[in-house]
Amino acid sequence: MCGIVGYIGKRDAYPIIIKGLKRLEYRGYDSAGVALLNGGLKVYKKKGKVAELESHVGGSDISSNIGIGHTRWATHGEPNDINAHPHSSSDGKLAIIHNGIIENYQSLKTELEQKGYKFKSETDSEVIILLIEEIKKRNNCNLDEAVRLALNEVVGAYAILILSSDDDKQLIAARKGSPLVIGIGNGEFFVASDATPIIEYTNNVVYLDDYEIAVIRDGELNIKSIEDVPKTPFIHHLEMELESIEKGGFSHFMLKEIHEQPKSIRDCLRGRLIAKDNHLNLNGMYQYMNKFLNTDRVIFVACGTSWHAGLVAEYLFEDIARINVEVEYASEFRYRNPVIRENDVVVAISQSGETADTLAAIDLAKSKGATIFGVCNVVGSSISRASHAGAYIHAGPEIGVASTKAFTGQVTVLAMMAIILGLKKGTLSESRYRELLFELDSIPDKIQKILENTEPVKRIAETFQFAKNFLYLGRGYNFPVALEGALKLKEISYIHAEGYPAAEMKHGPIALIDEDMPVVFIATKDSSYEKIISNIQEVKARKGKVIAIVTEGEKDIHNMAEYVVEIPKTEDCLQPLLSVIPLQLLSYYVAIHRGCNVDQPRNLAKSVTVE
Ligand code: AGP
Ligand code: GLU
Repeated sequence: MCGIVGYIGKRDAYPIIIKGLKRLEYRGYDSAGVALLNGGLKVYKKKGKVAELESHVGGSDISSNIGIGHTRWATHGEPNDINAHPHSSSDGKLAIIHNGIIENYQSLKTELEQKGYKFKSETDSEVIILLIEEIKKRNNCNLDEAVRLALNEVVGAYAILILSSDDDKQLIAARKGSPLVIGIGNGEFFVASDATPIIEYTNNVVYLDDYEIAVIRDGELNIKSIEDVPKTPFIHHLEMELESIEKGGFSHFMLKEIHEQPKSIRDCLRGRLIAKDNHLNLNGMYQYMNKFLNTDRVIFVACGTSWHAGLVAEYLFEDIARINVEVEYASEFRYRNPVIRENDVVVAISQSGETADTLAAIDLAKSKGATIFGVCNVVGSSISRASHAGAYIHAGPEIGVASTKAFTGQVTVLAMMAIILGLKKGTLSESRYRELLFELDSIPDKIQKILENTEPVKRIAETFQFAKNFLYLGRGYNFPVALEGALKLKEISYIHAEGYPAAEMKHGPIALIDEDMPVVFIATKDSSYEKIISNIQEVKARKGKVIAIVTEGEKDIHNMAEYVVEIPKTEDCLQPLLSVIPLQLLSYYVAIHRGCNVDQPRNLAKSVTVE
């Protein structure tokens, strides 16, 4: 969580940092702060969003060519002015911003207090800067050496930036477990949690690795490990376009990202699927094809929406490629002492590629000899780098905290994987393979069609904006979609919602149904259509309000449900790519009616880089 920005060069640092923090605000937004060097260290910080920080800074003298900024997602200590970053050393000469959690902060804090240090905040982060101050004094060493020694004592995750008023030409950065990207300009450097604050200035970036310290001084970047081994920076060239991280006329990133899905799926398919030539290819799979073909099982690990994509993959891989699948919450998997065998293939699904639980789960699986395949969106992210192989979803930056286009991108990649494996294993006939390729190719146009008529969803959102609960029901491929629809509503409108397999309802949740309960059925014309009609009748018999997502042209449910949204017909296995779209829109419009902050829902952050 949290966004970090730093600048050192010839330009004015403050506007670059503020603009960068706004781009990173999706990562955390409970307080914000900056530190600038200008004849001494100036620190400004404030509870609330970056805009509140700007008002707080007001007309102060903020001229400086070097500075750091932070937008926080509190883990230790409530969001207030004091706990906001940057934190300073007790002599006021050093400032730090930190993303992550210092797990041994309590013992370090006690030791420092015994030495007479006084803590101002309740954060774990303040420990790092006081520890650096103490080590620097004790060893009478340079700041970068003190940072290195301090990081050897720290347990946990961090991305940090440090400034010192003793040296206004130096910026120090370090990371372990939390991302940090360094943009290389012409005699200037930009440091940030991801590339979005950087790309309008430069496309050349260096991804800092775990246990690395970057010392940027006098126009030079030097990287070393915390064991003091020098490292050679590897410069990547980023392809990201500036428009992709701006709202482009939409009122929210989430709405823009929902509407981008025809394009993001086309981008995901580009070069990989050429239906007329019978061609489907995922380069990342080829080197590990035998692993996929010979394994007894594939384990999907992920969190949140990405976990829902993993559930769709369970249906896809079992149905199409007859491969045994397990789908695991990364956070449970890693602590359960799971049985992992050398011939297991573990597929990690993650939009950000930075989710701490997913990273830890794959580290565990890797240590047991499993093959790791990453399905990520963010290019160069930690999970993509920690995987043996992988396939990017190429959805472009997803900024809205509620994930939308990443989900459909993930399902698209997972469907391609299942189809490739099905053909290779002979569980999918040539003719069926061809049909699926053509159908997959038509998905972007079908999503476009859904997005061209959002009126029915808008009406439903208006009608049910005051509901206290929602139930989402689906069967088969649409069951994970029910979970995803419920998660979207909870996240951005704060209405309690549950997703359930439709047939499971009668084993408990049916007790909740009365005339105030909206029940969203994902009831497309697929192999469980007849069964779900019976489930709709069960809800109607108890006066529940039925909202149904149906296949266009179908009649039966039209006569049963109070509210109906039609979507185009597709293959059962590709259904989630279409049926999720009205649910994304429903959550968006309900949240808008309720006046919620769609792109920055309370308590959430985009990438969960803490456990
Ligand atoms: C989805 O809307 C979420 N905000 C969240 O559940 C997210 O999917 C989860 O944190 C996993 O993130 P990742 O895909 O970046 O790993
Ligand atoms: N653990 C730190 C805090 O609570 C940093 C949190 C963050 O990454 O924003 O302040």
